[in-house]
Amino acid sequence: MNVHHLLLGILWLGSHDLSGASERCDDWGVDTMKHKPVYSGEPARIKCPLFQAFLKYNYSAAHAAGLTLIWYWIGRGQDLEEPINFRLPDNHISKEKDALWFRPALLNDTGNYTCMLRNATYCSKVALPLEVVHKDPGSCVSQAVRPEEVLLYLSYTNVNLTCPDVEGYIPVGVKPRVQWYMNCRLVDHFYERHPRGVNLTFGIVREVYGGDYTCVATYQENGRDFTLTRTLRVKVVGAPEKSSTPQIISPNSRVIYELRPGADLLLTCEVDFTFLKDSPQEVWWTIDGRNTDNIVDLRFNVTHEETSLSVGKTKIEKTLFVPKVTEKDLKRNYTCFAHNNNGTVNMQALVKLKAVVPRYTVELACGLGATVLLVVILTIVYHVYWLELVLFYRAHFGTDETILDGKEYDVYISYARNVEEEEFVLLTLRGVLENEFGYKLCIFDRDSLPGGIVTDETLSFIQRSRCLLVVLSPNYVLQGTQALLELKAGLENMASKGTIKVVLVQYQPIKKSKVKELRQAKAALSVIKWKGEKSSYPRGRFWKQLLVEMPVKKTQELGG
Ligand SMILES: *[C@@H]1O[C@H](CO)[C@@H](O)[C@H](O)[C@H]1NC(C)=O
Ligand SMILES: *[C@@H]1O[C@H](CO)[C@@H](O)[C@H](O)[C@H]1NC(C)=O
Ligand SMILES: *[C@@H]1O[C@H](CO)[C@@H](O)[C@H](O)[C@H]1NC(C)=O
Ligand SMILES: *[C@@H]1O[C@H](CO)[C@@H](O)[C@H](O)[C@H]1NC(C)=O
Ligand SMILES: *[C@@H]1O[C@H](CO)[C@@H](O)[C@H](O)[C@H]1NC(C)=O
Ligand SMILES: *[C@@H]1O[C@H](CO)[C@@H](O)[C@H](O)[C@H]1NC(C)=O
Ligand SMILES: *[C@@H]1O[C@H](CO)[C@@H](O)[C@H](O)[C@H]1NC(C)=O
Ligand SMILES: *[C@@H]1O[C@H](CO)[C@@H](O)[C@H](O)[C@H]1NC(C)=O
Ligand SMILES: *[C@@H]1O[C@H](CO)[C@@H](O)[C@H](O)[C@H]1NC(C)=O
Repeated sequence: MNVHHLLLGILWLGSHDLSGASERCDDWGVDTMKHKPVYSGEPARIKCPLFQAFLKYNYSAAHAAGLTLIWYWIGRGQDLEEPINFRLPDNHISKEKDALWFRPALLNDTGNYTCMLRNATYCSKVALPLEVVHKDPGSCVSQAVRPEEVLLYLSYTNVNLTCPDVEGYIPVGVKPRVQWYMNCRLVDHFYERHPRGVNLTFGIVREVYGGDYTCVATYQENGRDFTLTRTLRVKVVGAPEKSSTPQIISPNSRVIYELRPGADLLLTCEVDFTFLKDSPQEVWWTIDGRNTDNIVDLRFNVTHEETSLSVGKTKIEKTLFVPKVTEKDLKRNYTCFAHNNNGTVNMQALVKLKAVVPRYTVELACGLGATVLLVVILTIVYHVYWLELVLFYRAHFGTDETILDGKEYDVYISYARNVEEEEFVLLTLRGVLENEFGYKLCIFDRDSLPGGIVTDETLSFIQRSRCLLVVLSPNYVLQGTQALLELKAGLENMASKGTIKVVLVQYQPIKKSKVKELRQAKAALSVIKWKGEKSSYPRGRFWKQLLVEMPVKKTQELGG
């Protein structure tokens, strides 16, 4: 109001020669502060602003002091002030205390109204406009009447929207009938919103409930019907307690700006602000701690963009542009700040010099990578398929070890003479080794001649064999058996002359043996385990393991 006073004070003019009085009158000009069009056909009231804004005393005090309030007006398109005719046939204009009433206002009432307060020695006056408009065709309002904005907080419950500026119009004791419209649609039953006379109660405030709400109040006065139309623009915004410090979306710690000198640096600071009434919303960049507003270097260019989001939120983007950066520019500290009444936050943009990577290094790295990958693949293949690889190699490149070494048998089989072991040797081992792999086996009980001395004959057979295959089982280690003799002879031959190879096949698990030679053999040689039914398949792992230990023989089928 102070500025207003000042402005109007400047407009202070000399006396107007009205009604013959020649004294000066303080003229405050036209007060457009409260200018708001009224609808034709609806009651309107203008209050003389002198008492509210310009003078120290109120109407009653002035009246009591003998000052008189006089109204006159200049109609639209007129240039002469004329007194107001309170005696029109319809009596629609009347004066009540400091106010002028129109019951109702008509289009022709549009004009500037002056109220003058005076006595014989004193005069003061001010004018104010009255604009009467029709409602827009097909609408409940006129675009000329700007609705008042009301903020409702999101998710608040039982909030009242009160039909504004009707109180003073409705006679005491009269209850008006009020109808509520949303965006000019009459709503009988709003969802979650309940009309209660001059109030529209929002059970809960939702974002979609934003819009123009118009209340139309009808009432009777002195037997005449009157209507008042008021509109409020509801804006749904985030509640104050839900508001927070600004959120810097970018820059962030995940994005690194890597540039070569000479490239253009474009840094965008993107900040989301929650709604906070009367709060500043500021975003700025600093370079090495200095606000870009204070940097005179014209190379640094900042642009600003603002977007409205839902429920009163705002997104502000401040883009800092540095054309053709130097190496020094890339070492600077670019930090974005954002501020509202909840606080100030900042985030540094990660700007880096892009390292120059020579081409050959890339190629070298690729080559090395490929080599490492190949080695890894080969290692895996070797570990999974080594048996197959060895057999494949032997089948294709190995020399036949069974030719010209003066031996008669490929394999001498040593086993406990027991039904189960015998069956394993004669049926399983013999079947596969002889029939599938083409080895020549020596099985004492099958190949020895009757009547010979067992010991001599055993040793002779073993000497004539390239390999001693020992079938281990609990019965094998019983003292004094022929089997133990065979084992000792084989091991001795292997150790002293190296002309025979000993292969251990564990047919059944045995406990820690008392026989010294067997313990030594088990420690020194690998033991191929028979896993029952699982091992019987001739192309399975058991036979491959066995085959690897056997002398190389070119007739073998298995191995590819
Ligand atoms: C007018 O002002 C006087 C004192 O200046 C005060 O007593 C009186 O209540 C006021 N009247 C109104 C209607 O405000
Ligand atoms: C309004 O004023 C015009 C001329 O000023 C007049 O012709 C017209 O009849 C008036 N209308 C009403 C409703 O008073
Ligand atoms: C009222 O006065 C103002 C200021 O002198 C002028 O601009 C406006 O047109 C007037 N209004 C009417 C309806 O004459
Ligand atoms: C007129 O009003 C002024 C201001 O209230 C007062 O000072 C003055 O005495 C009054 N003059 C007469 C003649 O009443
Ligand atoms: C809203 O108005 C209703 C009646 O219209 C009243 O009962 C209720 O107390 C009011 N709510 C608030 C928060 O003022
Ligand atoms: C309307 O709501 C206001 C506050 O929201 C409350 O004070 C008033 O009593 C209510 N009026 C009616 C008529 O319910
Ligand atoms: C932000 O400020 C508002 C109003 O001052 C307050 O209600 C709200 O709790 C504040 N939010 C935070 C996160 O401090
Ligand atoms: C960059 O500047 C900001 C604000 O001036 C400061 O908070 C931050 O610590 C600086 N960063 C480095 C790495 O110096
Ligand atoms: C700032 O940079 C933009 C491009 O990002 C350009 O269009 C604009 O003209 C520049 N403004 C100044 C003042 O250099």
